Amino acid sequence: MDDDYPFDNASAPANDRMSALQASYDAATVQHLEKLGVGSGWSCWEIGAGGGSIARWLAERAGHVLATDVDTRLLTDLPANTSVVHHDVREEPVPDRKFDLIHARLVLIHFPERDELVAKLATALAPGGWLVLEEIEARGQTVLETPDEASAAIFRSVQGRIIDLLERAGSDVEWAGRLPEVLAEAGLREIGSGRVTTRWPGGGTEIRVLAANSLELADKLAAEGVRAEELEQFRTVLADPRFTVSSYPLVSAWGRG
Ligand SMILES: C[S@@+](CC[C@H](N)C(=O)[O-])C[C@H]1O[C@@H](n2cnc3c(N)ncnc32)[C@H](O)[C@@H]1O
Repeated sequence: MDDDYPFDNASAPANDRMSALQASYDAATVQHLEKLGVGSGWSCWEIGAGGGSIARWLAERAGHVLATDVDTRLLTDLPANTSVVHHDVREEPVPDRKFDLIHARLVLIHFPERDELVAKLATALAPGGWLVLEEIEARGQTVLETPDEASAAIFRSVQGRIIDLLERAGSDVEWAGRLPEVLAEAGLREIGSGRVTTRWPGGGTEIRVLAANSLELADKLAAEGVRAEELEQFRTVLADPRFTVSSYPLVSAWGRG
């Protein structure tokens, strides 16, 4: 696991986290990529490919997909025009080739040098190629339905402390809103952006990302004074179909080289 990246693809909750993220955000991502015209012959780089759903979608449309991650264990059974490569986007140079599309979702927000990384990625674009970045607004969730005020209170309290922890570990939970500006500062043009929020009902696939994160960060949360019974109550609320929270808003932004 990377120093500042707080989660681990080898952990027990990782599969739940990846399938929850994909269920929550793939529809929005695909809509943007379709509008940008991803098609045959395109050379694509999927950074921090995670569970591989977007690499797979790209491979079914584009010429070639380079899917990179610091942990490639979940990147299996991808189409033959996909290359899966271990690559640390922070430490290693960009690949020695140019891309028609570079996409990273929920990766760069965790790294303190995130703005510099965007400028670095822009150098790997072919003329007219698109850089598409997507990040969440981690403090942007709202309780939409709750069986009682106590459930909403435990949700807000534990989730708030999880976000505090991520911030202290180096994540900038407000960076998503700056994406269009950061792309422009990297010299890209035709900047566009979108923001989507969906519903995450208790007990559903999507909300499981919150339970998975709370399991994975349990030791760190305990060190911050979050009691085991609070975490248990939090997970009980997340599993309750009478409880619904809005998703983390996803900001998608793109610009071309
Ligand atoms: C929250 S997951 C998002 C996965 C996928 N992009 C998605 O949205 O479904 C972040 C991914 O970034 C990867 N990652 C973390 N640090 C990285 C680094 N320095 N270079 C490349 N990938 C990294 C993690 O291993 C993980 O697979």
